[in-house]
Amino acid sequence: MEIGKVGVLGCGLMGHGIAQICAQNGWDVVVREIDQGRLDRGMGKISKQLGRAVEKGKLEQADADAVLARITPTLDYGDLADCDLVIEAITEDLDGKLDMWREVDAIVKDDAYLATNTSSLSVADQAAVTGRPDRFIGLHFFNPAQVMPLLEVVRAEGSGDDAVQLGFDLGDALGKTTVAARDNRGFIVNRLLVPYMFDAMRALEQGVGSVQDIDTGMMAGASHPMGPLTLADFVGLDTLVAISEVMVESYGEDRFAAPDTLRSLVDAGNLGRKSGRGFYDYSGEKPVPVDPA
Ligand code: CAA
Repeated sequence: MEIGKVGVLGCGLMGHGIAQICAQNGWDVVVREIDQGRLDRGMGKISKQLGRAVEKGKLEQADADAVLARITPTLDYGDLADCDLVIEAITEDLDGKLDMWREVDAIVKDDAYLATNTSSLSVADQAAVTGRPDRFIGLHFFNPAQVMPLLEVVRAEGSGDDAVQLGFDLGDALGKTTVAARDNRGFIVNRLLVPYMFDAMRALEQGVGSVQDIDTGMMAGASHPMGPLTLADFVGLDTLVAISEVMVESYGEDRFAAPDTLRSLVDAGNLGRKSGRGFYDYSGEKPVPVDPA
């Protein structure tokens, strides 16, 4: 199927990036949020990224304007009706996603494909509440979606071959490296990456090293672009707790359990970079590590 128009549900951390790369690829995009504030913030991030690309000479101003013009921000599910593909990137909460899919499935044209960008929830459970499980797949992008090369294409039990192929074709069109992943909790990357970040937090709790030293250790010692605690802040500490709950339930292994430090930070409203504080304080010019007392 030719994609002409893509719907993106959610214009947050992942949704705004997915909307941007789809529009940059020449597709019309409708991005839906639950309130005007969130929608404006997401669209503001897209404008800022495009502005930076223009400043760096990587994009002409006219092309940046054309990308923005291809994106229709909306609060109304009805605007998704004629999309060929709808990708959801809303909060990692299964009940919320199921409610949303029931509504969207009834509105979007029958031959459209649906995809979830969930990082940990079951793709099959989401497909099952729609009338088209054969047209439903997982498309797991990585943060920042504009930069990270990987796209995990997830085949759920009822996904049809056409839908899976569409996932790989979409990845190719966006210039992503694609991998096929089974519909298990965390797919490939989070299955390995989440326990790694949790281990870093446990190392911090055990006094193995400071926030800064643990991060520097993995950057300089293993050539990671970010240390694990910076990465946790970057992903969002509340998102990590949500992923942890799903993984513990699925695998029953302690290594997937959210460490105390992570829970305390989230309970205190410190969600990482997006809230301005997590393992680092982001209020100044440069992030400052916040070591546990
Ligand atoms: N949005 C858009 N573009 C961004 C960006 C953002 N948030 N952050 C950086 N970029 C762009 C920059 O504009 C720059 O572009 P150009 O090369 O065109 O100039 C490029 O990325 C490199 O950025 P910087 O030079 O500022 O910084 P950097 O070299 O340190 O790279 C990074 C930044 C790409 C984020 C890098 O630190 C990195 O790869 N970090 C690891 C990120 C990672 O592991 N992500 C996966 C998280 S796990 C996940 O997403 C799964 C899940 O479900 C939880």
